[in-house]
Amino acid sequence: MARPSSTAEVAHVLRICAEERIGVVPLGGATGFVGGTRAPQGTLLLSMARMNTIRAIEPANGCIEVEAGCLLANAQAAAMDASMSLSLSFGAEGSAQIGGALATNAGGFRALRFGSARDICLGIEAVTSDGAIWNGLRKVRKDNTGYDLKHLLIGSEGTLAVICAAVLRLDPKPVQRICAVVALQSEGVTIGLLRQLQGAGAVVSAFELFGEGGLALALEDGSAMAPVNVDAAAHALIEIDADAGSRSLLEATLAKALESGIISDAVVAQSEAQRARFWQLREATTDGIGRAGWIASADVSVPLGELAAYLSDIREGLKQEAGAARFIAYGHAGDGNLHLNLLPAKGETPEQAPVGLDARFYRLCYSQAMRRSGSFSAEHGIGRTKMSALAHYLDPVELALMKSVKHALDPLGIMNPGVIID
Ligand code: MLT
Ligand code: ZN
Repeated sequence: MARPSSTAEVAHVLRICAEERIGVVPLGGATGFVGGTRAPQGTLLLSMARMNTIRAIEPANGCIEVEAGCLLANAQAAAMDASMSLSLSFGAEGSAQIGGALATNAGGFRALRFGSARDICLGIEAVTSDGAIWNGLRKVRKDNTGYDLKHLLIGSEGTLAVICAAVLRLDPKPVQRICAVVALQSEGVTIGLLRQLQGAGAVVSAFELFGEGGLALALEDGSAMAPVNVDAAAHALIEIDADAGSRSLLEATLAKALESGIISDAVVAQSEAQRARFWQLREATTDGIGRAGWIASADVSVPLGELAAYLSDIREGLKQEAGAARFIAYGHAGDGNLHLNLLPAKGETPEQAPVGLDARFYRLCYSQAMRRSGSFSAEHGIGRTKMSALAHYLDPVELALMKSVKHALDPLGIMNPGVIID
């Protein structure tokens, strides 16, 4: 493993690796789900952990310049200290690094309002596969200087160059964030409720779904109380970025939704502590999945108008396939991104699942997402685990163009070899 402390040192390492034809696997916080930082035999792990400086925080310019190894949570805290907000947020933010978040184009909880990592990145400093340093640390919103190489590197999972530093956009800090948990009549009403809130003028910044059984799974370990009726068909966590009138607007819209029956219960957090507890429930769903051990876990996205029909098709498809296995759909419904999990029947382990069930589950989830103009890899990337899906589902012209890009930027094939494209 190499542990460079500067961009110049990264360049030095890359020049040696290019000369010696040694594969380089850039390593951030290793919080990904697709094996993107698994280093094959004979490759060099390039840890960015020592490059963790916040180089500048510039409220007047609305940006922060950070090195790749800086933890996302530390960059968020620095923005807060300057009375600004770094809008990227996801479960692993306490150990994920900025470089990895950009290299994987991380999404998370607020993509609905602020987009994914690429949408808040203004500039990048990177080292190319032959060890040249590219200074693209621009600080402006508008920048049409030819091909946007920054966006090519974002989401490329370390297969084209090494991201060493970045300029990220800061947004004004919301006056207040108001959070609610609601019990939904069914998974099918999810997007209708989101649209009602937006239609009423609420600035919804997070809208997370707990599909059938999701909240119960989060509560299974007994460490939290249910804020609403846990037996409802589904639940949602809603957060709005608020000004003085927003609380009554949220409450009035939820009251209407109660009247019309699309929700059966709602609790609006009355304190920051209660808000934090609601978010812990969301985290607890992911923990519950981990505890149960999964047979398969898909990360898909579909257009919002298709979400209800998509979920009901998956459930229908699973009736023939899944037997006693449990299906838990949850995640960032407000931007169309769902985490679909097949868990073993209660008391069983994933190993006891019928042979080939995982492959059949993935085929069902992916083909239905693609059929609906969605994506079979919404926020977790391709890495090593989804390469065959990429080859299978991607438009052949798109795949050929990706191969040309890979060859142009990494002609020796030393950048994170075996990830995305072989
Ligand atoms: C999340 O949203 O909690 C993460 O993306 C993890 C997951 O796939 O469940
Ligand atoms: Zn997620």
